[in-house]
Amino acid sequence: MQAAIIGLASVFALGLVACHRAPGSLSLSPKTFATAAVISSPKKPDFATEIKPIFQARCQPCHFAGGQVYDRMPFDKPETITRLGTKLFTRIKDEKERHLIREFLAP
Ligand code: HEC
Repeated sequence: MQAAIIGLASVFALGLVACHRAPGSLSLSPKTFATAAVISSPKKPDFATEIKPIFQARCQPCHFAGGQVYDRMPFDKPETITRLGTKLFTRIKDEKERHLIREFLAP
C-alpha cells in the first residue's frame, strides 16, 4: 500500500515535470531560455506568486512582518529563501512545494 502511494506520487511528479516542459509554456526570454537549456530545467517559479504563498500558508506569523524571526529570516524576501536554501526542507515536506522551491533555487 505504501509502495503504491509512493509510486503514484512519483508518476504525478513526473507528470508535473512533463507538463512544465510542454511547448505551450515556453514563454521564455532568451536569457532564461539559455539557463534552462544548460540545467535542463523549466522556467523558474515566480517568487511573489508561486514561492511566497507556500511560506505564507505555513510559516506565519514567525517569518513574516511582526513575527519573532522576521528580522533575521524574512520569508517575504527572495534573498532569504536563496540564502537558507535546502535548510528549508527540514520544515517543508510536501514534494510539490519542494519541487517548486528547488526550481527557484536552481542557478
Ligand atoms: C512558531 C514560529 C515559527 C514558525 C511558524 C516557523 N518558524 Fe522557522 N524559525 C522560528 C524560530 C524562532 C527560528 C530560530 C531558531 C534559532 O534561532 O535557531 C526559526 C528558524 C528557522 C530556520 C533556520 C534554522 C535552521 O534550521 O538553520 C529555518 C530554515 C526555518 N525556520 C524555516 C521555517 C519554515 C520553512 C517554516 C514554515 C514551514 C517555519 N520556519 C515556520 C520560528 C518559526
